[in-house]
Amino acid sequence: MRFFKKTISDVPLESTTVLLRADYNVPLKNDGTIADDFRIRASLPTVRRLLKDGCKVVIISHLGRPEGRDPKLSLEPAALRLAQLLGEPVRFVDQTVGDKVRMAIKRAPKRGVIVLENLRFHAEEEANDEDFARKLARDSGARYFVQDGFGVVHRDHASTAAITLFLPSVAGRLLEKEHTSITGAMSSPKRPLVAVMGGAKVSDKIGVIEKLVDKADTILIGGAMANTFLADSGVNVGASKYENDQGAVIKKIHEAVRQKVGDAKAAEFLRLPTDVTVAKRIERPTDVRYVGAKEVASNDMILDIGPRTAESYVKALRRAGTVVWNGTMGYAELAVFAKGSAAVAEALAEHPEVESVIGGGDTADFAIHWDKKKGGSFSHVSTGGGASLELMAGKKLPGIEHLLDA
Ligand code: ADP
Ligand code: 3PG
Ligand code: MG
Repeated sequence: MRFFKKTISDVPLESTTVLLRADYNVPLKNDGTIADDFRIRASLPTVRRLLKDGCKVVIISHLGRPEGRDPKLSLEPAALRLAQLLGEPVRFVDQTVGDKVRMAIKRAPKRGVIVLENLRFHAEEEANDEDFARKLARDSGARYFVQDGFGVVHRDHASTAAITLFLPSVAGRLLEKEHTSITGAMSSPKRPLVAVMGGAKVSDKIGVIEKLVDKADTILIGGAMANTFLADSGVNVGASKYENDQGAVIKKIHEAVRQKVGDAKAAEFLRLPTDVTVAKRIERPTDVRYVGAKEVASNDMILDIGPRTAESYVKALRRAGTVVWNGTMGYAELAVFAKGSAAVAEALAEHPEVESVIGGGDTADFAIHWDKKKGGSFSHVSTGGGASLELMAGKKLPGIEHLLDA
């Protein structure tokens, strides 16, 4: 399936100045250093391609959610990491628009990389302010705008929307790959399509679950999301994290499932854990036990799927043509409660013939840290959290829609 927007391959960018929107919103450690550079590494194919074409590449991004200028959220560390990963010098300018930016870009060599300061130091960025977008276009001296910040394309901001009024705007390599992988898995998967859904909340992912009931052949539920489904069916989930206000949504989901596969096959289509991992407390747990899903005591917390459930989910994954995975199977921040998520990751990594598309901030983070090949064992690990969920749910994303049509 051809991507529906123009990309960097469709316009003559050779030897021009290009304004490149990346998503370098990376997690930081307490000391301010970068905790994980997955998103910076993911931007390399586009940056390298533009350098090969002799471009002057001016990179813009946001980092965090600052209110005004905040030195702790400077993009300078990201610029340094980019230079290391590229093996080429990267100039950092501590402003986003204005004379200093204009002069620095003018003086820079014809072929090279410049990173500007955090877009969100200006309130105009999130306000999708046209004047700010005009200045970004003008002060960068760019001939083209390239959108490659997939993680932020669900936002209507100056660098995802208004900017496209001022420069011919096309997609970068990462954006194209994210879009084709995610929409391809949802709309023309190799069957059977098995979805693994988990994480914190049903309410975060209603749009995706509803879409999956339509598109998938089996849905495997885990994480705190499973607690909500179990509690809704009348099972005692004890002291577990769950939502008690999702009854109407869950009823609608069950009805859609019955419509699709009939009463007899409903529980096979939308599967819930039959056993679970419980503990009395999360930190320093000493009393971790595996119990049947219906045998949770009132002071137990369900913190992972159980081994029997993991085994049966893995069986379904091995038989899949395509797997989409969004949401960890448990409290995977702690190794004792990461076994269910690790079983899913292992099943996908061991079966490269199964197309695997992993999305969601925490899930992608888990998968790339679990994997010796930093995510390379899977077909696609998305750099997007909200953006990948919205795309899976079939929504139109402003940062993509505004680009030039192919
Ligand atoms: P993603 O970012 O991949 O979309 P979510 O944010 O929805 O995923 O969910 C991940 C979070 O859910 C993690 O912080 C994880 O600890 C939490 N979580 C998953 N299962 C449980 C559980 N059984 N109890 C408590 N927290 C859970
Ligand atoms: C993300 O991390 O999901 C993106 O970079 C978007 O960030 P935001 O949620 O602060 O808009
Ligand atoms: Mg999350």
